[in-house]
Amino acid sequence: MARNKVTVIGAGNVGATTAQRIAEAGLADVVLVDIVEGLPQGKGLDLAEAAPIVGHDSRIIGTNDYADTAGSDIVVVTSGLARQPGMSRDDLLAKNAGIVRAVVAQAVDHSPDAILIIVTNPLDVMCHVAMAASGFPRERVLGMAGVLDSARFRTFIAQELGVSVEDTHAFVLGGHGDTMVPLSRYSTVAGVPITELMTPDRVRALEERTAAGGAEVVALLKTGSAFYAPAASTFEMVESILLDRKRVLPCAVLLAGEFGVDGLFVGVPVVLGAGGMERIFEITLTADEQVAFDASAAAVRDVVAKLP
Ligand code: NAI
Ligand code: 2OP
Repeated sequence: MARNKVTVIGAGNVGATTAQRIAEAGLADVVLVDIVEGLPQGKGLDLAEAAPIVGHDSRIIGTNDYADTAGSDIVVVTSGLARQPGMSRDDLLAKNAGIVRAVVAQAVDHSPDAILIIVTNPLDVMCHVAMAASGFPRERVLGMAGVLDSARFRTFIAQELGVSVEDTHAFVLGGHGDTMVPLSRYSTVAGVPITELMTPDRVRALEERTAAGGAEVVALLKTGSAFYAPAASTFEMVESILLDRKRVLPCAVLLAGEFGVDGLFVGVPVVLGAGGMERIFEITLTADEQVAFDASAAAVRDVVAKLP
């Protein structure tokens, strides 16, 4: 049986680390694509040369040519620019929208049945761009953010309570930005809601640290943003799809009335399997949570409206 094939576009920090995780797990053959000549080829060769030591047989190559990506089961999009000095958020939005539009159009030309996982920021808005550029149904256009934001929340919960990260569960919904909605009521340690394990002040502090989680890493790194946890998060989505695990993971998907939102990509829990987004896992929100979710959706809608 042929191995699955995953294309990762953008051979930068997130893309290369995601490619490494997929290959080293033996989950799929990997094609790493970048616009910079030599960069994906060099990283692909380096990763292939690690295989005898790591002990996997996944084939991994780097390329600038989309013909090499043909027949991919999944296409992960990490290509984009970071904000440069003097560049406004709107400038970045226009530049990354142009990049995502161009790479998705080329990738789907060669892999018309693929499932797209978008990582490039601003995440929820780039999902809209990818959906339009691909013409794919909503089941096959997913955004990675909720897994990362939830992993950050889980890390902080485990550190606070001195318990294993493995026994923590967390749900962070909404857009990938300052208005994300950590749902503490549904965040648990061994099934016990954290609201019963910490004071409301501590819960709020962890929620706030989660919402600022990306900025906390940027402030430390100074020259880039997080990539180990983002790559691990993307890997978890890829694995659930390729192994048809039907994990329930928070992902950005196009809502069509679910959670009271229509026609907008926002992070919600979904069942991820061989068909991509197989089901939206609707949970009941309290009035306060719904207000926060609506505000987060409104923030995404404002940026979508600025798309060139
Ligand atoms: P990076 O700068 O290390 O890598 C980006 C790569 O994209 C570069 O190698 C660049 O050459 C490539 N690229 C640019 N234009 C291209 C094009 N037209 N075709 C192919 N490749 C192209 O950045 P990093 O750290 O890997 O982040 C990538 C993106 O992911 C950023 O937009 C970042 O904000 C986003 N991100 C999103 C997260 C999320 O939770 N959704 C988490 C972490 C990062
Ligand atoms: C993060 O949350 C930059 O979106 C990225 O780390």
